[in-house]
Amino acid sequence: MSDKAILTIDGKQYEFPVIVGTEGEYGIDISKLRALTGHITLDPGYVNTGSCKSDITFIDGEKGILRYRGIPLEQFANGPNFIEVSWLLIFGRPPTTEEYREFAEELTHEANIDEGMKHHFNSFPRKAPPMAILGSMVNALSCFHPEFLDLDDEEKFYAAAARLISKIRTLAAFAYRHANGLPYLYPNPSLKYVPNFLHMMFSMPYHHYECDDLTRDALNMIFILHADHEQNCSTSTVRMVGSSQANLFASCSAGINALWGPLHGGANVAVMEMLDRIHKGNVSAEEYVKLAKKKDSGVKLMGFGHRVYKNFDPRAKLLGEIAEKLLPKMGRKDPLLDIARRLEELCLKDDYFVERKLYPNVDFYSGILLRAIGIPTNMFTVIFAIGRMPGWIAHWWEQKHMEGAQINRPRQIYTGNGLTDYVPMPGRKYPKRG
Ligand code: ACO
Repeated sequence: MSDKAILTIDGKQYEFPVIVGTEGEYGIDISKLRALTGHITLDPGYVNTGSCKSDITFIDGEKGILRYRGIPLEQFANGPNFIEVSWLLIFGRPPTTEEYREFAEELTHEANIDEGMKHHFNSFPRKAPPMAILGSMVNALSCFHPEFLDLDDEEKFYAAAARLISKIRTLAAFAYRHANGLPYLYPNPSLKYVPNFLHMMFSMPYHHYECDDLTRDALNMIFILHADHEQNCSTSTVRMVGSSQANLFASCSAGINALWGPLHGGANVAVMEMLDRIHKGNVSAEEYVKLAKKKDSGVKLMGFGHRVYKNFDPRAKLLGEIAEKLLPKMGRKDPLLDIARRLEELCLKDDYFVERKLYPNVDFYSGILLRAIGIPTNMFTVIFAIGRMPGWIAHWWEQKHMEGAQINRPRQIYTGNGLTDYVPMPGRKYPKRG
């Protein structure tokens, strides 16, 4: 493959270097394009645009590959926990035993939030969406921890990263307690990351929530699977905001807001809404599958198919295995879970889905698993945000230290009015609107 690309404009040729990634991905470096030619590229949705070089995560959608710092996702099953994976993503290699112990202790130590922050929760309306509360409260960390607004050395960055990963779980649990009119529960330092989160969500002052190993492992895996997915919308948002040298809390709060959009973090919510519609509408799983195969029905089977993963979604494979173990043990009768399992069973042997390579995606299983754990649907995207936090932090730091780091500032092709005179208000005449 050539190491340069040639572009011809008005008969004149320009050469641009071709950059090759570790896994043989090719990119044409057009950073000098405008200076040399006066032209820019136009790529709505950035589907052909590499915004950076990154060492963090590799994805090959055709082959169903997802690797964090080079390690295939499958190797995280039955092994490391979310804290170890967070360390790996942020610091570039797995921690030693001592580093892991110190980091885990730091997270335990930092799980509490300032008492002043608790008052903020009380001023949110009961019906406030938990994602809106989470975004606001992560931003509010900038007010309560001004010592971390400038993160110039790695020591300070380490402390700020630990605070964010630890406190987001407390903030998320408090958002849930507030929405349900329940008392806020302090984190319990004797519990590990996931059980402590579930304790703050579900314990009562008079009743301690017991987290069994299967539930702990399932939520741990959900966090790990969501921990990074390279330059997706929320991560690119964190990098964009961080490029203005905005602080880590403000940048991650922006990431939370980007994730909130239904086209990004909300797909597993859509899965549960579909199951609910099937249940309430008295439609059988068989009838719904028939409908999803009919082109003019406008119905799609939510949680099936993927834009990037065309062979299989490696995250779905792992979660599917966990669902297989966890669901039969839950013993809870839930009609939506029954519908989900029936849909899966039907589609995996249906030619329509098999031929089009439409397998359950990560959102199908994460939705049913979260439901089985007892997490309400309006907290699903919040769980995603807790999981994605180490990825955002890693990208924020990488962006800050990348060679030639500068404020991100895309350009545009202007298509509005040509030169237009200002007309004073009384002289304006337009056709009536509507
Ligand atoms: N149900 C029924 N048919 C489907 C589905 C589905 N969920 N997904 C795709 N198809 C069909 C299409 O109608 C098309 O059929 P045709 O070849 O006969 O015309 C064929 O499969 C290919 O579909 P495309 O839309 O071209 O696939 P694409 O890669 O563009 O779309 C997408 C992927 C958007 C995810 C799609 O599969 C979908 O809408 N799935 C349901 C929504 C969903 O689960 N989204 C979450 C994705 S995971 C994530 O984003 C984190």
